[in-house]
Amino acid sequence: MSSIVTLNNGLKMPLVGLGCWKIPNAVCADQVYNAIKLGYRLFDGATDYGNEVEVGQGIKRAIDEKIVTRADLFIVSKLWNSFHRPDHVKENITRNLKDLGLDYVDLYYIHFPIAFKHVPMTEKYPPGFYSGAEAQAKGVILTEKVPLIDTYRAMESLVDEGLIKSIGISNYNGGLVQDCLNYARIKPVCLQVEHHPYLTQRNLMDYCKLHQIQVVAYSSFGPQSYVELQSELAIETVPLFEHATIKKIAAAHGVSTSQVLLRWATQQGIAIIPKSSKQERLVENLTVEKALTLTAEELKEINALNINLRFNNPWDWMGMKFPIFA
Ligand SMILES: NC(=O)c1ccc[n+]([C@@H]2O[C@H](COP(=O)([O-])OP(=O)(O)OC[C@H]3O[C@@H](n4cnc5c(N)ncnc54)[C@H](OP(=O)(O)O)[C@@H]3O)[C@@H](O)[C@H]2O)c1
Repeated sequence: MSSIVTLNNGLKMPLVGLGCWKIPNAVCADQVYNAIKLGYRLFDGATDYGNEVEVGQGIKRAIDEKIVTRADLFIVSKLWNSFHRPDHVKENITRNLKDLGLDYVDLYYIHFPIAFKHVPMTEKYPPGFYSGAEAQAKGVILTEKVPLIDTYRAMESLVDEGLIKSIGISNYNGGLVQDCLNYARIKPVCLQVEHHPYLTQRNLMDYCKLHQIQVVAYSSFGPQSYVELQSELAIETVPLFEHATIKKIAAAHGVSTSQVLLRWATQQGIAIIPKSSKQERLVENLTVEKALTLTAEELKEINALNINLRFNNPWDWMGMKFPIFA
């Protein structure tokens, strides 16, 4: 089990969870079930990952076998970009809950601060980057003029209705986080962003700490997740697993380079959700807090690897140039 953090609404969340993006449908239910057996309690899912039915099956099996109760788990989902209009927010969470087989999620994020044109579920679900057949044929994404505050108000209503316990924001830059704090009736508990030694975002981390927003790191292994997607940028970047500094520190502690990368985050109070579809990696990732403690000098050395290199950038989505990051 990992350590637990208390969020700004009093809810307890494990510092280490399992990321569910790209876990193949065929192995997902087993992976979630096995992860629960090994001690995972936090599962980071999303509409967009297309595997919530299987995540739900894994959870159900563990609950049926009395390995855990629902209350022991911290289940996360995310509102997709095509459901930003207030009347579509409830439609999205209703489908998430149906697929997961649950009556609430612990945390529901706005996945990206970008509103795509709505796609009826009967046409395509999850819609991904599809925003209608015509747009698809032209290779573009259509957007809708939905201010984020309107989407956020609808998220607050979901808390009022008991469908979600807390609100998260994801892929928000500092300005958007600050703006959100100006209008939030119910404060966001977490900010989920890409975070690894090549992209440390010191000011954003400090700002969130100052305002009691828990940062959750995604893609903790940097380029690795995007090599699988054939990203040229990721392919040409030195893998963090192979970086001389990370290798040297791993050797000094007798641990794997992946554990150094994860511990570097948790030691700074940042939650992690490493994804793996391989059973053998589940334990390695869950136990990082016990595996090692980095020295102040080592933390500094890893922080110095920052080159503001981002792999998940909506600027690149089908060449649409959404400028949410600098
Ligand atoms: N909010 C967002 O926009 C957003 C974006 C991206 C990701 N996320 C969330 O964050 C989670 C994690 O990010 P991610 O999936 O991009 O990447 P990640 O956790 O950095 O994992 C990347 C790859 O590393 C491999 N791996 C895992 N553990 C390993 C280990 N101990 N040693 C060596 N390789 C290992 C995995 O491959 P194998 O499966 O082969 O083990 C995985 O495909 C996602 O699953 C998702 O829940 C959110």
